[in-house]
Amino acid sequence: MPKESSTHRPPVVLGIETSCDETGVALVDAERRVLAEALRDQLERHAPYGGVVPEIAARAHVEILDQLIERVMVEAGLGFADLAGIAATAGPGLIGGLLVGLTTGKAIAAAHRLPLLAINHLEGHALTARFVLGPGGGDGLAFPYLLLLVSGGHCQLLVVEGVGRYRRLGTTLDDALGEAFDKAAKMLRLGFPGGPAVERAARTGDPGRFALPRPMLGQPGCNFSFSGLKTALRQTIERQGPQALEPPTLDDLCASFQAAVAEVLLDRARHATELYQREYPGATALVVAGGVAANAHLRDSLATLADEQGLRLIVPPPALCTDNGVMIAWAGQERLALGLTDGFAAPARARWPLDPAAEPAPGAGIKA
Ligand code: KG4
Ligand code: ZN
Repeated sequence: MPKESSTHRPPVVLGIETSCDETGVALVDAERRVLAEALRDQLERHAPYGGVVPEIAARAHVEILDQLIERVMVEAGLGFADLAGIAATAGPGLIGGLLVGLTTGKAIAAAHRLPLLAINHLEGHALTARFVLGPGGGDGLAFPYLLLLVSGGHCQLLVVEGVGRYRRLGTTLDDALGEAFDKAAKMLRLGFPGGPAVERAARTGDPGRFALPRPMLGQPGCNFSFSGLKTALRQTIERQGPQALEPPTLDDLCASFQAAVAEVLLDRARHATELYQREYPGATALVVAGGVAANAHLRDSLATLADEQGLRLIVPPPALCTDNGVMIAWAGQERLALGLTDGFAAPARARWPLDPAAEPAPGAGIKA
């Protein structure tokens, strides 16, 4: 009689991510193995415009998505009939790109009679740490945990209470943090995306040379605001004239900007950790996700805070912090395990807050 274990194959989910400017596709099994993945960014197409152009992004997803899906299926040696479900980002994000990925996911699911998982992109980011560490027990990451999500489109502090259960503690009132880095870089002619360039220049700069404002510092709650800081930076650059674009002034401006950001982030995150510790007896971890989590200076500040508060600081590896298909496939696995599948009427949603009870933030960015 054949042994059962020799035929046992954990269920595999195909994940599709097209909410912004990355086309991401991955096959992930329920035991957290990535069987194959493909990721294509569109930086070259958007760079001349200094930001993501929605129509260009949607067209680029159309051009590449089918090829990437075919490639991962071939690489994993699987046919669609071998899959347990199709997970596609349904929002929030740029609507054209979302429609490309979600419609493709629906078509595959319908043709092969597979369950569809219409994934909230933010849930993908939120559950990535459980993909990295395991979903509980031992060193795994159990609910509830605190999440700081900081990227080009998102800037939120959330308690992840469970799959599909989120409590938003704070969000940005204007720009996302990555967006603030990108705008600072644009003013300083450092190119796009700006975060890495600002961090690099800041390394040799004097963070005390320019006294930039710290918006929201010391105020109650966990909301963010970066527009005042951006305006102050613009005025400072204008005052410095052409020197602002050359070291050492350029480096000092970047270091001063980054120091202001770090101080604000720390203040907001401190409020959130205090609330989390107070209201969740099982409080264990502060998770940081999103592209800005790559910033070593900000990570060091958050590590000190976590240490002070007796929390584990968890930062997934950079490739999983930025947008990718693995996080969508994994969120699909988590939802599939709970039977949280979606009908084919599931809409693409430009806005889709994780915590529907939270007040919408006035003037929040596209993905907030
Ligand atoms: O998560 P992500 O790849 O895409 C979005 O969903 O937005 O994040 C990209 C953002 C960009 O705004 C980029 O400037 C920022 O993350 N970023 C950084 C760093 N690396 C990337 N910001 C600050 N410091 C960095 N080292
Ligand atoms: Zn994202």
